[in-house]
Amino acid sequence: MSLRLIANWKLNGSIQFNDQWAEDFFKNFSSLNSESIGIAPAFIYIDHIRKLIGDSGINIGVQNICEEESGARTGEISASMIKDLGCKFSLIGHSERRIFFHESNKTISKKLNLANNNSVMPILCIGESAVENERNDTYDILKFQVEEALKDLFEQSALIIAYEPVWAIGSGKIPNPEEINSVHKMIKDVVQSRFPKIDLKSVLYGGSVNSENASSLFVQEHIDGALVGGASLDGKEFAQIVNIFNEIK
Ligand code: 13P
Repeated sequence: MSLRLIANWKLNGSIQFNDQWAEDFFKNFSSLNSESIGIAPAFIYIDHIRKLIGDSGINIGVQNICEEESGARTGEISASMIKDLGCKFSLIGHSERRIFFHESNKTISKKLNLANNNSVMPILCIGESAVENERNDTYDILKFQVEEALKDLFEQSALIIAYEPVWAIGSGKIPNPEEINSVHKMIKDVVQSRFPKIDLKSVLYGGSVNSENASSLFVQEHIDGALVGGASLDGKEFAQIVNIFNEIK
């Protein structure tokens, strides 16, 4: 099974936080199947998290990579560097990167290729804004984001897509699960018809996922898993989401 449940810790974490999180997670995690789980901490905690998760099989990844492989990019981290540290995946094009760091679809496309070149699984994040949603532009926006990101991608690339409506992130609001299911089906159809050689492993949903709404999402056929922000910061809560996923999928 590919990655299905990813914790995006964003700009959170500390040595003490990480220790407590691991204690809470492993106390409440009730499955032997860890291969579908990923944690994306801040870069500087990768090594600490690796020690905490030991040989559990949980994957470590990152929230971003540089669009260049090396050279004059002060403060950046490349795909080959995270590969070197054993990271298995990278989020790419998260809406917070698009909004606060002005990432374009062209930049995102370059990052996708660099991740693939380094055997790091790219998790392309897409999603419409509140205004776009209210205007009923969701499908057009998502199609555009997928096509722009994938059009220069090497044909045989592997990919995971995370659908994260911008208005659902951190807001406690989520679209109706049936609506999310239809959006995921559309995303799969677009990738399959426009980019048939791309190996789309799964389409995850992100935006206010927690242990209370997880089962209503995971029962949907095309919701293959979740990218979890706020609720993943609590080790017990994230373990519960994983347990619910394992019971349903
Ligand atoms: P929340 O789960 O806090 O809404 O964040 C979602 C997200 O942005 C994950 O990448």
